[in-house]
Formats: sequence, structure tokens, C-alpha cells
Amino acid sequence: MIIHGSNGIEIAEQHTLPKEVFDRIKKFVNHKVIPHNKFLVGFHEQAFDLSQFIPEIHEYIGDLIQNSEFCKKIYFDFIERLPQDSQSNFVFLDELWCNWMKKGEYNPPHSHFGILSFVIFVQIPFDLEKEYALPAAAMAKNPSNGNFNFIYFNGTKVDALNIGVGKSYEGKMFIFPSTQMHSVNPFYTSDGFRITVSGNVFTKGKLKE
Ligand SMILES: [Fe+2]
Repeated sequence: MIIHGSNGIEIAEQHTLPKEVFDRIKKFVNHKVIPHNKFLVGFHEQAFDLSQFIPEIHEYIGDLIQNSEFCKKIYFDFIERLPQDSQSNFVFLDELWCNWMKKGEYNPPHSHFGILSFVIFVQIPFDLEKEYALPAAAMAKNPSNGNFNFIYFNGTKVDALNIGVGKSYEGKMFIFPSTQMHSVNPFYTSDGFRITVSGNVFTKGKLKE
């Protein structure tokens, strides 16, 4: 499913993970061993490198990209801009990490490295209805506690798409161009952790220089 912004802009694609892939991810997010914070802009304490688990989902991500018109367009648009000698058809997942965010923590607007990036929602500990009912949120035109936001240019102005990512998003993923700005709002109504897994997809060549 394509996620559209205003003016019909295509921002991201949403997928539901196969059960066996999601079950595996739910296990390896508990590998809280190698801190990843220094690579992030987020205001949250717990971020961990999961790159050792890349082989376990590499095939799934590769197949997803190959079967997605949205992803293929981003990929080919990207490699067309590369010098001829560094072009490659070889897509690979090179960075994988997880964020454990607790009450009040957030991720300010940022983009990633690579061609395509994704976020997988592993655990959402709060109910959006409770978040939106908090006094400060309830007075707003568009309550946005706990939301995931895409910030983009719609052809006329910079706009934001605020997506209410509640419990129903567990096991779902957004994949988008690595240059796509996004952010995550804090939640306040749960003492549990919001757990997400993110990754960046590169191509063989000199893209990381
Ligand atoms: Fe991000």
C-alpha cells in the first residue's frame, strides 16, 4: 500500500511482514548488547546495533524491493545519478538497528544514509485513543502524541503527514527513500517501550563515501 501525501505525492510504502519474519525480529530485538546511539539523532537512551542479524532478513528485504514498483523506481532513479563505473544492480542491506523508546522520548526530524530505508513496528505500548485524550492533546485540532511523521515537499510547500501508529501497526513496516525526512512524537500514557527496527539499503559501490 502506497502512503500518499497531499497533492498525491508518493511518500512511502507500507507492508505487513510475514509471520515467520516478524517472529524472528521479535526475538532478535532483545539483543541489547551493542549501543547504536552515536549514529542517531533521537532523544532516547536505548538504541542497539543489530547488524549481525542482517542475514536473517536480507532475503525478505531484497525480494520486497524487487517486487515493489515504488522501491524499484527509487532504486533506479538513484543509480542513474551515479558515475557509470560505480553503478550496480546489487542491492544489499547494510545497517540494522533497533530503538527502545520510553515515555517522553522522541526522534526529531531526520533522514538516513543509503537508497531505501525502513522502519518496522515491533511493539507499540500505548493506545492512541488515550494519547489523544490527554488534556493538552485533546484541545488540538490534530492530536499527534505518539505519531510517526513524514515531512515532505508537496510541490507547493513543505507539508507533514502525521500517521497515528498505534498497536494495529505491530508487524507492519514503512519503506521509503533514505532522503525522506521523518520524525517520531513522544507518548505519555504507558510505561512500556515502543520498539522499532530500522535499516538502510545500499548498492554495491561507493555510496557511503
Ligand atoms: Fe529514522
